[in-house]
Amino acid sequence: MNNAKDLKDKYISFFESKGHKKIESAPVVPENDPSVLFNTAGMQPLIPYLMGEVHPAGTRLVDYQKCIRTNDLDEVGDKTHHTFFEMLGNWSLGDYFKKETISWSFEFLTQVLNIPVERLAVTVFKGDEDLPRDEESLSIWKSLGIKEDRIAFLGKEDNFWIAGETGPCGTDTEMFYFRSDDPIPEKYDPEDDRWVEIWNDVFMDHYKHEDGTFTELPKKNVDTGMGYERVVAVLENKDDNYMTSIWDNARNKLIEIANLPYEGNEKSMRIILDHIRTAVFISSDDAGIKPSNTDQGYILRRLIRRAIRHAKHLNIDINSNWDEELALIFIEEYKKYYSELERNKEVVINVLKDEKIKFNRTLEKGLKEFEKEIKKIENNIINKDIAFKLYDTYGFPIELTVELAGEKGLSVDTEGFKEKFKAHQELSRTASQGKFKGGMAGNSEIETKYHTATHLLNAALKEVLGSHVHQKGSNITAERLRFDFSNPEKVSKEDLQKVEDLVNEKIKEDLPVSYEIMSKDDAIKAGAEGMFMDRYEDEVKVYSIGDFSKEICGGPHVEHTNVLGHFKIKKEEASSAGVRRIKAILE
Ligand code: SER
Repeated sequence: MNNAKDLKDKYISFFESKGHKKIESAPVVPENDPSVLFNTAGMQPLIPYLMGEVHPAGTRLVDYQKCIRTNDLDEVGDKTHHTFFEMLGNWSLGDYFKKETISWSFEFLTQVLNIPVERLAVTVFKGDEDLPRDEESLSIWKSLGIKEDRIAFLGKEDNFWIAGETGPCGTDTEMFYFRSDDPIPEKYDPEDDRWVEIWNDVFMDHYKHEDGTFTELPKKNVDTGMGYERVVAVLENKDDNYMTSIWDNARNKLIEIANLPYEGNEKSMRIILDHIRTAVFISSDDAGIKPSNTDQGYILRRLIRRAIRHAKHLNIDINSNWDEELALIFIEEYKKYYSELERNKEVVINVLKDEKIKFNRTLEKGLKEFEKEIKKIENNIINKDIAFKLYDTYGFPIELTVELAGEKGLSVDTEGFKEKFKAHQELSRTASQGKFKGGMAGNSEIETKYHTATHLLNAALKEVLGSHVHQKGSNITAERLRFDFSNPEKVSKEDLQKVEDLVNEKIKEDLPVSYEIMSKDDAIKAGAEGMFMDRYEDEVKVYSIGDFSKEICGGPHVEHTNVLGHFKIKKEEASSAGVRRIKAILE
């Protein structure tokens, strides 16, 4: 197949013909899961429904989900890594199970994509002390015409899927395609990397608990995932993902802008293409992310700055519109599938422009500084002071300094950098608090009180409703606190009263509020609640309120609880599936 870009359309219509309803891709930032920065798999936005919530679109769904994985960000530059990718999926929410799933996967691969059966192999779960061997999938695959020699049984490392440590999960069966012109071996060997994974059907019927045990979910679900970029590469017979039709227009544009061939410049070109595309998808997303020094904004900043650095490397005039031209191509290519690209086009262009202006002011000087400093160093290590100066004065994300250093065969004292960074953060925090005290005394004080009240509320909810309660979001203004937490149902009036009373009781007890700095691991061991760990640091601040609450938090907090006054819950309502919201005030 020469052009497989229409794979998404084919996938959607195939599953629509099997009674599925198409749903829109969720935003790139998970709506109620502050523990991860971005959606990393198609199933993430559907977790509440896999757990039993009713989905408004029914029990058979099909979609393509925008996914972003940043743990491999520095790997981008080779043939296969991307920071953004799309995942195609069909879903059964307690509807069909193994027989239909596998038969439809087989039908789609062989009848719609016309892949010859000889090029296919599959793996199924071999069974262990927790879960039995998947005999059913084996017999379904055999009945469809997959030879036993092409079926391998593997353990949990391969044929089991879960999004994190706990949550909905299940065994899976995976499909592989023989991507090579070599003769196809009769027997499938999972170690032979000429076999490329193209699809994963997960039978999501279990829930994994914190203690490692499994229980069955109320319904048997199916979550399938097909990575779009990889399958297009397979279908178009390309071993470099960036050579597929997905990238043709953008790649050709970049070749034209740089006035250089792709061959010989692959690494920088792939980085630019990947990073600009991801920056387009992050900044166009309705989550409204802007470049910054924290969380998603920091990833966006890193992507743009790294792309700029590589553009410079290719001698592109970085003050020209090279980035905008590439962004417009991506917007054009994808807007049919993601309307936000067209809707937020101006936002995207402005994000790129502003960030480029900011970085350009210092990039040149920073690179000179870097060259100057490395001439002086003795032990091949860029020390923390240089790394920090490049960050603080020249806006070099630490990862950029590490990459530049790597190109010169040097390393960077990143641990030392982190320490300096932390000390600097403390300083600016104190400084900004100082400013608040001077100028806007009332504001800062009341917000600090609400911070502490939020911890009390979190702990009280856990005590009254149960340990399933976890923070899902929090927002504080000078007028009120707003707190989102996991709970399957509406909180009764009586329970709300108990929560309110308990918080007021703890306020009256005048508990001391204190903090300790410890490693993340120790904090978790100590049973600290934590959703907003500072992602730069391995060390975290753990706030305790007497023995009543322990939470990872940056602060600030009051020193004693009796200054909070009287706590009152004003409202309890649904926030989203499985998440409730409380608004409360101090009076
Ligand atoms: N959740 C599975 C995966 O990401 C299938 O969608 O592979």
